Amino acid sequence: MFGEDLAEVYDMVYRARGQDFDKEAALVTEIVRSRRPDARSLLDVGCGTGEHLVAFARSFPSVTGIDLAAPMLAVAERKLPPGTVRRADMRDVDLGRTYDAVVSLSTAVAYLPSLADFRAALARMVAHLAPAGVLVIEPWYFPENYLDGYVAGDLIRHDGYTVSRVSHSREQDGVTVIESHWAVANRDGIRHFTETHLFQLWTREQYASEFAHAGLAAEYLSGVQAGRGLFVAHRRGEHAAAGPVGHAAGRADAGTGERR
Ligand SMILES: C[S@@+](CC[C@H](N)C(=O)[O-])C[C@H]1O[C@@H](n2cnc3c(N)ncnc32)[C@H](O)[C@@H]1O
Repeated sequence: MFGEDLAEVYDMVYRARGQDFDKEAALVTEIVRSRRPDARSLLDVGCGTGEHLVAFARSFPSVTGIDLAAPMLAVAERKLPPGTVRRADMRDVDLGRTYDAVVSLSTAVAYLPSLADFRAALARMVAHLAPAGVLVIEPWYFPENYLDGYVAGDLIRHDGYTVSRVSHSREQDGVTVIESHWAVANRDGIRHFTETHLFQLWTREQYASEFAHAGLAAEYLSGVQAGRGLFVAHRRGEHAAAGPVGHAAGRADAGTGERR
């Protein structure tokens, strides 16, 4: 999972499949600023190849990313100033400082194997949250809006690469299993690989219960990002005024699992 083969083509493939990293970062920035107008620092948990961080760095003077996958971080390091990203597990990360905003996007938290792991990761996110800081988490689909058996297929031609990807999504014991088969061709030849990604299909109530356990007041903005919505949270009892967020209205769309 998230090996060198995938990391090499990740940005081009997900952009071609419709992911607009700049737009997503702009929405998250708007949400953070509506609650914490003076926010200057941001931590991206499970930052992957750093595409959101590049955009966040235009709005926040201090940005940091952490991720578990060295090949993804190697791509991020090529785009960002030295020291911006670090290899760490979100369940036990300790950067020794806090941030005005802590975010985790493209459903990175749903890769955690259990709610106990999510609880541990949330505790670390809270530990890195400055007073009146804002936490933004993109969940995986909830069971009621996940579409089982979804098949996706893409053919992408970009920058000397031709990539074909087919995927199949199935639910198994409360977990979404997405298997994808890839063929990547460029002037060096053709490589094939497969990836199997497991996403915890937690209910909205299970997320809510974990936020409450972490001492957070959380709201859910439906219909944003890829339709999976965003949880926005702050420490209970702290003032974090929620201003209007332009794009944050909408319904919880049916989830296809398509984009991952
Ligand atoms: C779908 S990718 C999203 C990457 C990035 N947030 C984006 O939007 O492009 C999920 C990322 O979560 C990372 N991840 C999964 N489990 C993790 C963990 N326990 N600690 C840190 N990162 C983790 C993976 O390595 C991967 O880069």
